[in-house]
Amino acid sequence: MTYLMQSDQEVARLKAQASASSPADRLRLTGLMPGHVALDAGCGPGVITAEMLDVVGPAGRVVAVEPLAEHLEAARALLAGRPNVELRRGALPDTQLASDTFDYVWCQYVFEYLADPLPALAELVRVTRPGGRVVVADIDGVGLWNWPFPEDLQQESQKLLAALREARFDLHAGRKVFHHFRKVGLADVRVHVSPFYVAAGAVDARLHEDWVIRFRTLRPLAERFFGGAGPYDAFCQRFLALLDDADTLKYAMVLTTEGVKR
Ligand SMILES: C[S@@+](CC[C@H](N)C(=O)[O-])C[C@H]1O[C@@H](n2cnc3c(N)ncnc32)[C@H](O)[C@@H]1O
Repeated sequence: MTYLMQSDQEVARLKAQASASSPADRLRLTGLMPGHVALDAGCGPGVITAEMLDVVGPAGRVVAVEPLAEHLEAARALLAGRPNVELRRGALPDTQLASDTFDYVWCQYVFEYLADPLPALAELVRVTRPGGRVVVADIDGVGLWNWPFPEDLQQESQKLLAALREARFDLHAGRKVFHHFRKVGLADVRVHVSPFYVAAGAVDARLHEDWVIRFRTLRPLAERFFGGAGPYDAFCQRFLALLDDADTLKYAMVLTTEGVKR
């Protein structure tokens, strides 16, 4: 499997990103409860899996599935010694898990990487028990919501978006999930909108570094769309300066969609 953001800094980036959010609130809000048997599909380095274990407690159990060996290893290290967790190598849309198994199925920041999310969603529904909850959380336009956002920088950003589109990365994956949930027949479909980040003023060191890593990792893909290394570097520097600007608002949203299997 190829993963667009693969780099030797990705595990650290994902751990910092997941730790900066309040996933436990969204897990509880979308119905994860003590005693549940839950799935974390595409668990990455396992930070959210750990939160899920805290919520389900000693009477519950969490299975986490991840295709990348390096991420799975990081999750194993993070969760070493914790009971009631099973880590498995696997990928959507073929997890090899039994049908109708889970009370709660969680999948965060995975659909954005999938050229076609529908088979993945069908798999999440298949492994959920009737009456159980499917929850998919994903981004909506990270990097686009800034003000003031100079017109020429907005236009340059379109080149990065074109590069991402070519890599089949969907920057608007989150907004599409509601429609998909309805189409596959999930009941009581609801959407919760929460911040991916909000920086009223300069971003913090974690978010600055996050963007540095993003730009570095995307360089081989993106340079061509900017007409070479020089223009790409110039764009990155200007964007990072915008992030560091004390007088500019930057924000991005996560859409968390939940539905019940009939
Ligand atoms: C951005 S990370 C998110 C990790 C974790 N869910 C979180 O919220 O911190 C995306 C993860 O999805 C995994 N992934 C990519 N394609 C996948 C697929 N087809 N099935 C399951 N996981 C996948 C990647 O290897 C990576 O670990």
